[in-house]
Amino acid sequence: MFDSGVGGLTVLRELRRQLPDEATIYLGDEARMPYGPREPAEVVSFTREALRWFGRHGCKLVVIACNTATAVALEAVRDESAVPVIGVVRPGAAAALTATARRAVGVLGTTLTVRSGAYVRALRDLDPLVDVIQQACPRLVPLVEAGKADTDEAEAAVREYVEPLLTEGAVVRPAVDTLLLGCTHYPFLRARIEKVAGAGVRVVDSATTTALAVREVLSSHRLVRGEKGALHEVHATGSRERFAAIARRLFGEDVPVHETTL
Ligand code: DGL
Repeated sequence: MFDSGVGGLTVLRELRRQLPDEATIYLGDEARMPYGPREPAEVVSFTREALRWFGRHGCKLVVIACNTATAVALEAVRDESAVPVIGVVRPGAAAALTATARRAVGVLGTTLTVRSGAYVRALRDLDPLVDVIQQACPRLVPLVEAGKADTDEAEAAVREYVEPLLTEGAVVRPAVDTLLLGCTHYPFLRARIEKVAGAGVRVVDSATTTALAVREVLSSHRLVRGEKGALHEVHATGSRERFAAIARRLFGEDVPVHETTL
């Protein structure tokens, strides 16, 4: 599993819950995170490097847990990759469409994810009649990484980004009935986002449906691992201590990390 940093561990956790016997290798490109404010070509090239790295580690499937990398690089790298690749955008779109009753979805993402329009395309591919409003939330990733997800500052930022999706003209009814967390870091702000969005709006992420997509691919290709006792490794670029400290802050547990380069 690949992410620009620590946040993808939320997707890994769900994958391990659904597929407890699979061995996993997680790669967080913490040294070059965030990807969200970068140019598409840079993120494509980083993702390419990550896939080559996985190629050297003998994986049977790669999950790009990073929404930004999925949004701008998945199409480009999929055909070049020797191993099959799954991204989070389509599973996230599927989760949102299952949740929305009024076919009106708000997508929260990084600047580049929103710029790419990948979620809008994925949602409309699955349901051509769905209404989609996107919102770039550039302040949220730095707040989560700084351990400030539970602060008034984070709530103010969430309010700034989410409130415009809740008013339809001057009408009180929310413009969307579902908010899709299109970024690995936003699940850490879920409580604040739900509070601001109110009871009439469902908040969904892509972790469950991505793990489900992996399960389906592995079983349809008879690649499910049969033995018990799977090994799990976490690798990060940049400082191992920094990655471990952020992971500890976010997950409340120690994550043993190997330092690597791409
Ligand atoms: N992993 C990124 C994503 O899901 C968020 C952090 C970043 O900007 O690199 O979009």
